[in-house]
Amino acid sequence: MRPIVITGFMGCGKSKVARALARRLDVPVIDLDDVITARQGRTPAQLITEEGEPAFREIESNTLRETLESIPAGVIALGGGAWIEETNRDLIDQRGCLSVWLDVPFEVCWGRIKTSEEDRPLGRTREQALKLYKRRKPIYQLADIHAQRMADENLENFISRIERLI
Ligand code: S3P
Repeated sequence: MRPIVITGFMGCGKSKVARALARRLDVPVIDLDDVITARQGRTPAQLITEEGEPAFREIESNTLRETLESIPAGVIALGGGAWIEETNRDLIDQRGCLSVWLDVPFEVCWGRIKTSEEDRPLGRTREQALKLYKRRKPIYQLADIHAQRMADENLENFISRIERLI
């Protein structure tokens, strides 16, 4: 099986979908932000706040490269900005991964961002998040598979559809 990479905007449910999909497919799951946190001893949010976004992106890219080189095929949830970097898309492509974009309406993502306990330094205000969402959307569209979450669709159904798309 080709490794599956899950991408999409902050709050679209990448980690949750990756875990559920991996369980269905009976393969390992990896969350890139968790790998970064474990290795750096700081969360992506802390790294962005304390070191700046460019330094975080470099760490993110290196971690992605090492992760893709070392893990067996499975499901990998990216952070929302990882797919935006061309270098990362090339790494994902070279490893033969299948990329899946979780296309979730902005208002749904924002609703989760604003109520979440997790700090998202790049989406602290609605304006900031919306601008980023619009700018990134055409790049998410480059993913192999476009999984659009229907209004009111439950997670199980969404996962089944993704499974069929794969
Ligand atoms: C980011 C998304 C975050 C995290 C970091 C940067 C982004 O992950 O990697 O705060 O640039 O969109 P989630 O998409 O899991 O929130």
